[in-house]
Amino acid sequence: MARIFAYFLLLILISGTTQAAEPEMLKERMNAWEKQMIAFQSALYRHEFKKMADAMHAIENSGALPPRVSGALKSSLEEQDYKDYMKLDKFIRGSATVVAEQAEEGNVQKLLMHQGRLLMTCIQCHDMFMMKAASAMQGAAAQ
Ligand code: HEC
Repeated sequence: MARIFAYFLLLILISGTTQAAEPEMLKERMNAWEKQMIAFQSALYRHEFKKMADAMHAIENSGALPPRVSGALKSSLEEQDYKDYMKLDKFIRGSATVVAEQAEEGNVQKLLMHQGRLLMTCIQCHDMFMMKAASAMQGAAAQ
């Protein structure tokens, strides 16, 4: 019995590490976020609060940037830019949590306010970093 348990534990550990080793580049993260934003918007028009919350939880749960991406950014951005980038990335995930909470409470006014802030952060980061980070990503992909 204990052996079977140990075997399963090992399987879980192995699958966990393989997953972590999968290269997730920035574009994939962004495409996933865009998909969730569209899902959120559709749910908003239909007053489907559960779906709105699900979309925001998916952004919240995207986790910290994978090391391959953060490493590429760190090595090609100025130190302050790198810090700002990481802050914005974290801020998005935090905002998504807040929007999800408002959706769960069915609070349309607050939800719209926080969703507006979240959206502005998408745009702000693109404005500041899209060009710079895109070339960092090309460098990482070529490695
Ligand atoms: C912390 C910075 C940052 C934030 C926040 C951010 N983005 Fe991005 N986004 C980028 C960068 C950098 C690129 C360019 C990536 C590249 O070309 O490799 C990008 C590219 C994109 C693209 C184009 C991807 C492609 O296939 O070319 C989409 C769509 C996108 N982001 C959606 C979003 C959405 C939606 C949000 C908000 C929920 C968001 N982004 C928030 C940095 C950010």
